[in-house]
Amino acid sequence: MAFLEFHDVVRQYGEGESAVKALDHATFDIEKGELAVILGASGAGKSTALNILGGMDRATSGSVVLDGRALTAASESELTDYRRFDVGFVFQFYNLVPNLTALENVELASQICPDALDARETLEKVGLGERLGNFPAQLSGGEQQRVSIARALAKNPKLLLCDEPTGALDYNTGKQILQLLQDSCRNNGITVALVTHNSALAPMGDRLIRFRSGKVTEICVNEHPTPIADIEW
Ligand SMILES: Nc1ncnc2c1ncn2[C@@H]1O[C@H](COP(=O)(O)OP(=O)(O)O)[C@@H](O)[C@H]1O
Ligand SMILES: [Mg+2]
Repeated sequence: MAFLEFHDVVRQYGEGESAVKALDHATFDIEKGELAVILGASGAGKSTALNILGGMDRATSGSVVLDGRALTAASESELTDYRRFDVGFVFQFYNLVPNLTALENVELASQICPDALDARETLEKVGLGERLGNFPAQLSGGEQQRVSIARALAKNPKLLLCDEPTGALDYNTGKQILQLLQDSCRNNGITVALVTHNSALAPMGDRLIRFRSGKVTEICVNEHPTPIADIEW
C-alpha cells in the first residue's frame, strides 16, 4: 500500500447535461518522502485533486487514503482535524494574516499542532531569520511566500500541498522558492505534491503525474531528479 493512494477519483460538478467532471477516474500514488510534480494545462483538474488531498473538498466517488487513513470515509470533524494537523498548504497568493508579523503568522499554525516545529527556527531555515518582526506588507512577494512555506512546514505535516506556488513570482524568485521546496523535501523527508502548469518543472520531482481533462495520462518515477538550479524555462 502506497503512502498516498488516490484511486479512481471522480469529482463531478452539477447534474445532467450541465455536469462537469473536474476529475474523471483519476488514479495515482505518491510514496512517503517523494516530491511529486502534478502537471497539466489550466482546467485539467489539478487544483481539484489537491483540494481533495487537502480535505477541503470531497470526491464524488473513488478512494483517497493517506498513511492508511481513508479521507473519503472521514466525517466532517475528522476532516477538520486532518486539515489542522496533517496537511500544510502553500497557495499562489500567500494568504498571510496582514496584521500579524512573519513570526506570528507561523506561530498561528504551529500553536495548533502537537508535533509542531519551532516557528522561529523554521523561519530561519527558509532564510527569514532577520525578518521575524516584519508584517507581510513589509516583505517582497518571494519573502511572503517563504513565510507561507514556513507556516506550512512548522506544522510538521504528513503532506505538503503546493498549488502553483510560484504563479505570482518573477522568474528568479520563483526558482528560489522551488529550490526551497525541493531542499525541504530532500532534507526533511517531507512528502510534497506540487501543482504546476509549467512543463519545464517535470524533471524536478521524484515522480511526475500528468493530468489532462480530469484524467491522469502519465505517471513517471524519476530516479534522478534535476536540481532546480539546472532547469531553465
Ligand atoms: N466549483 C466548480 N463548479 C463547477 N466547475 C468547476 C468548479 N471548480 C472547478 N471546476 C471545473 O473543473 C475543471 C478543473 O478545474 P481545476 O481543478 O481548477 O483545474 P486546474 O487547477 O488544473 O486548472 C475545470 O473545467 C473547472 O472549470
Ligand atoms: Mg488550479
